[in-house]
Amino acid sequence: MRGGFLNRRTLQRFRQVAISATGSVKIKLLLCCCIVFTLIVIAGRAASFMGWTHHQASVGRFSVPRKGYTVLINTWKRNDLLKHSVSHYASCAGLDSIHIVWSEPDPPSDSLLKFLRHVVQSNSRDGRHIELKFDINKEDSLNNRFKEIRDVKTDAIFSIDDDVVFPCTSVNFAFSVWQSAPDTMVGFVPRIHWVDQPKGLLDYYNYGGWWSVWWMGRYSMVLSKAAFFHKKYLDLYTNQMPASIREYITKSRNCEDIAMSFLVANTTGAPPIWVKGKIFETGSTGISSLGGHSERRSQCINRFVAEYGRMPLVSTSVKAVDSRNIWFW
Ligand SMILES: *[C@@H]1O[C@H](CO)[C@@H](O)[C@H](O)[C@H]1NC(C)=O
Repeated sequence: MRGGFLNRRTLQRFRQVAISATGSVKIKLLLCCCIVFTLIVIAGRAASFMGWTHHQASVGRFSVPRKGYTVLINTWKRNDLLKHSVSHYASCAGLDSIHIVWSEPDPPSDSLLKFLRHVVQSNSRDGRHIELKFDINKEDSLNNRFKEIRDVKTDAIFSIDDDVVFPCTSVNFAFSVWQSAPDTMVGFVPRIHWVDQPKGLLDYYNYGGWWSVWWMGRYSMVLSKAAFFHKKYLDLYTNQMPASIREYITKSRNCEDIAMSFLVANTTGAPPIWVKGKIFETGSTGISSLGGHSERRSQCINRFVAEYGRMPLVSTSVKAVDSRNIWFW
């Protein structure tokens, strides 16, 4: 009886404590919600107040130094794409000059030259003078795109195909990443290699496209269809890299971008840097969608490994992202 009474009293006490505890938990939760909500509102205001939103002007002010970059455009019989590409990049802050690698039998027509000169001048920001140059090649070889440019004024080269267009904000961001690691290749299109174990004694390497990168969460190359690198690599590619590699590329009409990745990796001993950016492909899908492409690329990798006597590529999972684009990290 007594025990029962005590029990009931203690139980009542407990219940009171429990009720007040849940009460204060609820209040605390409510408070937390209020604080979080207020923080979100303040953060949203601060973002626009502090200029962290994507105004091109603020990007230009903070991340583009006086010395800019040279856009190196590789084109082949696609004048419409070339016109579109040139007129777009001319409007990017930080651009110093445009070099067009031309490997067609006929030189560029007068009307094309006139159009490009006009569009470069009228699209350039603040009336800056942007140099427009053609590198005319008699021979049609994929190595042309990495020929040394003698009178290039900037250290930074932004190498692109004529059918990919990136917003100026993405290009400027990639440029600022490159400036923090000027020996490294910094690009938008990652690729991976991996070892196939069961094929015999020697390592056989495979080339992996976008899906492989996504699946493994790693990459070891960035393609030169959209990448920044130092101008010294043009000299190394043309004058120092074994001629047998360049011959192989001319003959197989493929893999100049893989060769460039090998060259840079052999020099730095480090992986490239993949930068997040929006891509607009203006042309048709190109050779990468054709069957057998991956197999040929794998052959290139194994051929280059044999030339170097080792595998220089280093893989990584690091990706550079503009912190102004991510709020919760
Ligand atoms: C790779 O780098 C080494 C050491 O830096 C250099 O001696 C060699 O010539 C390079 N190989 C190629 C094929 O460029």
